[in-house]
Amino acid sequence: MDDFVFHNTTKIIFGRGAESRVGAEVKAFASKVLLHYGGGSIKKSGLFDRVAASLKAAGVSIVELGGVAPNPRLALVREGIKICREQKVGLILAVGGGSVIDSGKAIAVGVPYKGDVWDFYSEAASPKENLPVGTVLTIPAAGSEASNGSVITKEEGQLKRPCNSEFNYPRFSILNPELAFTLPKNQVANGIADIMAHLMERYFTNSRPVELTDRLIEATLRTVIDVAPRVLRKHDDYDAWAELMWSGTVAHNNLLNTGRDGDWASHDIEHELSGIYDVAHGAGLAVVFPAWMKHVYKHDLARFVQFAVRVWAVDQSFFSPERTALEGIARLEAFWASLGLAIRLPGIGIGPERIEEMASKCTKGESSAVGHFVSLGKAEVSAILRLAL
Ligand code: NZQ
Ligand code: ZN
Repeated sequence: MDDFVFHNTTKIIFGRGAESRVGAEVKAFASKVLLHYGGGSIKKSGLFDRVAASLKAAGVSIVELGGVAPNPRLALVREGIKICREQKVGLILAVGGGSVIDSGKAIAVGVPYKGDVWDFYSEAASPKENLPVGTVLTIPAAGSEASNGSVITKEEGQLKRPCNSEFNYPRFSILNPELAFTLPKNQVANGIADIMAHLMERYFTNSRPVELTDRLIEATLRTVIDVAPRVLRKHDDYDAWAELMWSGTVAHNNLLNTGRDGDWASHDIEHELSGIYDVAHGAGLAVVFPAWMKHVYKHDLARFVQFAVRVWAVDQSFFSPERTALEGIARLEAFWASLGLAIRLPGIGIGPERIEEMASKCTKGESSAVGHFVSLGKAEVSAILRLAL
């Protein structure tokens, strides 16, 4: 097991009606918030009104900033920073999914910073302070509600880039599985693909031994595989949503990569798809991850066999090790397809035209590599994207 420090500072408040506690949670930090949200789902569902009522009851005043797009943009982040400075906002309250939360995290690190907030995403600087962030989660997916990450798209150059920093952990996150009942089926499937991808990025590691975290990741994957069809079949199955929502947080709050390194090439490659084509992150991962697996499985056949046997219950007595590994990948593809996800690039509207450009951007013009399990240069990234056609 690798040495590690685990220090996740996000307080989780989980359960039915939990958003009614938001006013009291915010009040511990500030009496004026930026209420940050997306394209309007929270207004339609009535969540906005409930959150506003709780804030008002706690004596917290609200500055509103909606309009966060999936694949959140830098321009709105800059607007948010300006508003927070002018209005002397004390906390960013992000009510929505990963896009809203990431945009809120970017505003929070940008407010006290004298330079341009993009510096944190271009790796020119790293955050040293921020405004506190609280979240009310509406979709189990990105795991941003308890992660140290934030991913923002710079319109100029179509660059989608992450910033990882301990300052990105929200101070609190409110998780009420009932809030997911209004999700459209395609967003549910995208979220499931992302949760599974976070688990698999961590699973494919060269660190040894990693018995406990292997088992924890496998258990979380199996839970997601079990409940995914249930939430799609019955949109208000609270128990299934509760399992899925907590899985989404556990998948990405860094507990499951304690003592091990992860890969993350599939995420880096997917960010190029979202940056150029504006596809949903989970939809992009459903295409990239199986292709990545087919490209790298020979690097550690035994690990892919273990994945097939323990996660997908492949009976290895019928198959050679290589066939077992490939069967595991095939079952992942079949599972994602059963949720309505496309598993090839044309299914998400992407052809071969810009593969070289994406591979080049992903590897910073060939000057760097992606992936820790297997290090990939531009040629390998292109090969993976071609496998996904
Ligand atoms: O904008 P609204 O109207 O709210 O609609 C959203 C949006 O259109 C809708 N939605 C969310 N909750 C809903 C709902 N519709 C009805 N009922 C609800 N309860 O769903 C759509 C997608 O929302 P979004 O926030 O984009 O989804 P997700 O949570 O998947 O976030 C994706 C973003 O997170 C980043 C991705 O790259 C992507 O930009 N990620 C962030 C990570 C992190 N910070 O740690 C890690 C991830 O790997 C990921 O990269
Ligand atoms: Zn992800």
